[in-house]
Amino acid sequence: MGPDGDLVTERLARGVRCFVVRIEDALAGYGWLSTGPEWIGEIQLELRPRQREGYIWNCVTAPEHRQKGVFGSLVLGIASAARRTGLRRVWIGTVAVPAEKALEPAGFRPALHFDVSALAGMRLMRVRRSADTALATDASSALRVRAGLVIRGSHPRRH
Ligand SMILES: CC(C)(COP(=O)(O)OP(=O)(O)OC[C@H]1O[C@@H](n2cnc3c(N)ncnc32)[C@H](O)[C@@H]1OP(=O)(O)O)[C@@H](O)C(=O)NCCC(=O)NCCS
Repeated sequence: MGPDGDLVTERLARGVRCFVVRIEDALAGYGWLSTGPEWIGEIQLELRPRQREGYIWNCVTAPEHRQKGVFGSLVLGIASAARRTGLRRVWIGTVAVPAEKALEPAGFRPALHFDVSALAGMRLMRVRRSADTALATDASSALRVRAGLVIRGSHPRRH
């Protein structure tokens, strides 16, 4: 995890689970699964999964293993492990990377869309709901955010 390596102990201590993809003996990628509140820096909001929900975050593929299906396999593997441990839904956020097309085949559906811009230390966000109104409502509730314009101070956190 490079400069974030020092965060591992604290994450594991608060019950966040780490999943890795190995190719032969090498660690090709990793991602984390939380069932407790987790900060989402890109949108400056805390996601609070409800009972039997989780949140997949901080997924990274090692540069030398990109575009080999590592992220797709990782997300499928975490989702399947989550199901086995009794979770009925997992949330994930993407940041407009091409790899997000791996999410739909893994069963993920869009809930909320954020257009984010930074201005004078503030985050301006336009929040739009997906067409799946029940899902969008649950996501709004987990993030405690409503559709429309949201302005937040920028508060970087290491976690
Ligand atoms: C985003 C990231 C995790 C993708 O990992 P990856 O292991 O290379 O992704 P995959 O190989 O599983 O790709 C999934 C799909 O996206 C496509 N894809 C991935 N990266 C792509 C790129 N740069 N350009 C075009 N398509 C791309 C793959 O071809 C694949 O599509 P397919 O199933 O139709 O073949 C990796 O680039 C990364 O670690 N980036 C830095 C961290 C980051 O941005 N994390 C946020 C994740 S939301």
